[in-house]
Amino acid sequence: MRIIENLAEMRETAKGIAVSRRSCGLVPTMGALHDGHLSLMRRSSGENDVSIISIFVNPTQFMPGEDFDSYPRTWEADVEAAEKNGVDIIFHPAPEDMYPSRSQTSVMVHGLTRSLCGMSRGQGHFRGVTTVVAKLFNLVQPTRAYFGQKDAQQAVVIQRMALDLNFPVEIIVCPIVRETDGLAMSSRNRNIPPEYRQRALVLRQALQLGRELVQGGETDPVVISNAMGEHILGDNEIELDYLEIVSPETLETVEKLDDLVLIAGAIKIGGVRLIDNILIGPNGPWED
Ligand code: PAF
Repeated sequence: MRIIENLAEMRETAKGIAVSRRSCGLVPTMGALHDGHLSLMRRSSGENDVSIISIFVNPTQFMPGEDFDSYPRTWEADVEAAEKNGVDIIFHPAPEDMYPSRSQTSVMVHGLTRSLCGMSRGQGHFRGVTTVVAKLFNLVQPTRAYFGQKDAQQAVVIQRMALDLNFPVEIIVCPIVRETDGLAMSSRNRNIPPEYRQRALVLRQALQLGRELVQGGETDPVVISNAMGEHILGDNEIELDYLEIVSPETLETVEKLDDLVLIAGAIKIGGVRLIDNILIGPNGPWED
């Protein structure tokens, strides 16, 4: 496995892969790799001749006051995990190379970034994500790129960006991987203080409650949201950021549950922001 830190070397390597007509999978990450990332890496290495992950804690997607400084960084363990999961190249660029001091350009997907995390963290968060992912696509030239469904809005936004900017890449969204007790895997889980860990399940429980209501025939999103919100707010140390029932394509709130919907939520617990979601229609799926 190679580690590439230099942008020109990454470009040359990508060119070599393309010239030899090999397919290339890219898993963009910010490191602190967990089983969710590992599932993306394994899929990428199974489906492509060359599998690349990027590890870059992207400063532009953290808004002022967010956890850029405390975001977990576990370089040695990440290298080992990548090597064991079929990765051929780790691309690990330096912030000053990705964002030279004179750079003035960003990539922005407009409508889809207004709701959910775009509303609570600000659209600037997604501007940072799409800018760095566009740069990674340009540098790595992947045939396929892999993202997790846990960041459902991010996946939809990146799919839109790839279409709108004609990136010749297939975006593949992989299922959420969960801890044995159901907590969605996230690099930020490492920062949950132990005394809050059990209570962090409240978001997952609320989503499951939402699903049970739909399964029981409830079609009014307000009734479902209220029940889920009450469950979360039963714990007064948890801050409910948002809980929304939206179309999985437009990310706009729905009036009635007569088609597939995305129920997505974000909470803050013990100083850590967690997100989770489920996709559900009036006829299921009932499991994820
Ligand atoms: O999902 C993430 O880890 C990041 O948002 C991404 C896609 C690697 C961009 O920095």
